[in-house]
Amino acid sequence: MSIIEKLSVTAVRNIEGLDFEPIPTVNILHGENGSGKTSILESIHLLASGRSFRTSKLEPLINSEQEQAVVFARLGDGKEIGLSKSRRQKHQLKFRAEKQSNWENIARELPCQILDSNSFLLLEGGPKSRRQFLDWGVFHVEHSFVENWRRTKKSIANRNLLLKHRTPDLRQIAAWDSELCLAAGEVDKAREQYFKAFLPLFLELYGKMNGAEVDSLEVDYDRGWDTDTDLADVLVDNRSIDMRYGATQSGPHRADLNFRIGRSRAVDILSRGQQKILVSTMKIAQGLLLSQALDRNCIFLVDDLPSELDRDNRTAILSQLVSMGGQIFITCVEISGILDSLVGEPKLATFHVERGTITA
Ligand SMILES: Nc1ncnc2c1ncn2[C@@H]1O[C@H](COP(=O)(O)OP(=O)(O)OP(=O)(O)O)[C@@H](O)[C@H]1O
Ligand SMILES: [Mg+2]
Repeated sequence: MSIIEKLSVTAVRNIEGLDFEPIPTVNILHGENGSGKTSILESIHLLASGRSFRTSKLEPLINSEQEQAVVFARLGDGKEIGLSKSRRQKHQLKFRAEKQSNWENIARELPCQILDSNSFLLLEGGPKSRRQFLDWGVFHVEHSFVENWRRTKKSIANRNLLLKHRTPDLRQIAAWDSELCLAAGEVDKAREQYFKAFLPLFLELYGKMNGAEVDSLEVDYDRGWDTDTDLADVLVDNRSIDMRYGATQSGPHRADLNFRIGRSRAVDILSRGQQKILVSTMKIAQGLLLSQALDRNCIFLVDDLPSELDRDNRTAILSQLVSMGGQIFITCVEISGILDSLVGEPKLATFHVERGTITA
């Protein structure tokens, strides 16, 4: 079980110093606009993955009057994670008192998903976010994935460097092609297997949502090159195009998930609320798959759920989240909006956020 037992945040946005002990189930963070609710979720996300879900920049994350932000968590099993992000120095990340050079161990220990008002971007944005979504799931179930993906990216980067030469060295390109094909084959296999497990679970959950276009929705995994052709052949056939662009045009770095309704892209048909329902369901299905595959629950960070969702869908999404039995952090301005949408009597704790601190 991945559970945060204690969280301390210092100098993240308007949070000067905050300590709190969430419960293992539903934690509701409520308070006025600008009080710091999202910043608490952002701190958890930052600790768990190294990234904020609001900004790619470091500057706005650190409190404007401080030099460094610190986030610390003690997990249910006593393991501790500490992160400091400084304006001038490289970040410091520790897990069980050991310095970490990347987030791999922590991401495994503390799987975390965010549902917020930008969730629809997963459908509307470019393929990168959908690849990241897919790879998040693959990463947790297939341990060799990280290494194969690293090899893939390295092969593509080296190949691209060669392609940019005025007179590219074809022998060297062919050598990187072989390495790329080996690693890409493994990446594709892992993604495809994961997608096969994910799809029925997702469609089943999606069918329970109000206003879901479940009968007409089709979802495909596009591996990034022609389904009927070996990548090795594609790389040879497209070499002159790749040389013109100075970049490899086909491969697992171009993989995507395609969502279609009839002949159109789902994003061109679905309303904003319907897009959020679809994306929320995707993330819930992913959390569910994770807990089925590993003895581990995903922590869900739910920021401002009510916006653009009707009551039935709020209730459906919250019920799914609660029934998974993992730890959830939900923010809201008015607590009644969330309490109205919670069915059954899940064990919950409420925390009032005010000017960057928790007051009750
Ligand atoms: N780098 C920073 N330094 C200091 N304060 C900041 C910084 N970045 C943002 N803030 C302030 O931090 C506060 C926290 O914002 P946050 O988004 O967490 O609020 P919220 O409670 O989620 O509000 P809402 O209900 O509007 O979503 C805001 O008042 C914002 O102006
Ligand atoms: Mg907010």
